[in-house]
Amino acid sequence: MAFEGSPHGDQQHPESLHHPHRPEDQHPLIHFVDYCFAYDDVPTLSHIDLEIESGDSVVLMGYNGSGKSTLLKAINGLIYPQAGQYFFDGKLVDEKSMKNPSFSKWLHKRVGFIFQDSDAQLFCSNVEDEIAFGPRQMELSEEEISKRVDDVCKMLEIEHLRERAPYHISGGEKKKVAIACILSMNPDVYCFDEPLNGLDIKTREWLLEFLKQLKASSKTLIISTHDQSLADTIADYFVYMGKQHEYTDKPHVHINI
Ligand SMILES: Nc1ncnc2c1ncn2[C@@H]1O[C@H](COP(=O)(O)OP(=O)(O)OP(=O)(O)O)[C@@H](O)[C@H]1O
Ligand SMILES: [Mg+2]
Repeated sequence: MAFEGSPHGDQQHPESLHHPHRPEDQHPLIHFVDYCFAYDDVPTLSHIDLEIESGDSVVLMGYNGSGKSTLLKAINGLIYPQAGQYFFDGKLVDEKSMKNPSFSKWLHKRVGFIFQDSDAQLFCSNVEDEIAFGPRQMELSEEEISKRVDDVCKMLEIEHLRERAPYHISGGEKKKVAIACILSMNPDVYCFDEPLNGLDIKTREWLLEFLKQLKASSKTLIISTHDQSLADTIADYFVYMGKQHEYTDKPHVHINI
């Protein structure tokens, strides 16, 4: 697969924008090196160089089709590059490493992904099992699993939904359950794909507050959004994908140009 453009062209590097004092022997939490990905024969991520440090709150912006969701998939090890590399916490994430069950469990424990479409994420017959699914995959004790389910249901105020079928609850309720499923794994990195879509004002405000709390607790947040107020509230810096370069008042980098 041929990719257009120079591998390390004129893209600004986020490292120069923040964490200037990181010792040279430490690696960034998330590190893309000249990463190229194509769906079938259509290049979608082209020569991505990107570093995200632990604790950063990053907002991905870009027009429809610019590759935001695809980049989130790459971060979560759901797709692999045709060229270049992706390292998570210094470890190469590729088809070979992800075929190793202990490695893929390790990555999924560290990085959680809240999909734009909650229906694509929820598949169990009741909400309680859905939230327990991740911790069960992590082989935690039943006692610990049940404590985590109780805790996140309380925190997200979804105790009344515990026995319900995920496919019979409302869109906003599904979003909360999808978040609960990730929260119960207690990952270091939370990836949200268009988290505010389809939510009413009350649930939007709740989610914004929740994201602020995650940020305050030093979690790493990577959020794709078209919502400027979410972006302004949460972003330490922006990653612009493709040709969208409109907001330049905060630190920003451009990729996938
Ligand atoms: N499963 C797939 N198979 C083939 N092409 C795909 C697939 N998923 C996405 N694409 C294509 O890859 C490109 C990037 O899509 P992506 O979903 O990453 O964009 P996005 O920036 O998230 O867009 P949006 O703002 O609409 O959510 C688009 O041209 C899209 O049509
Ligand atoms: Mg998308």
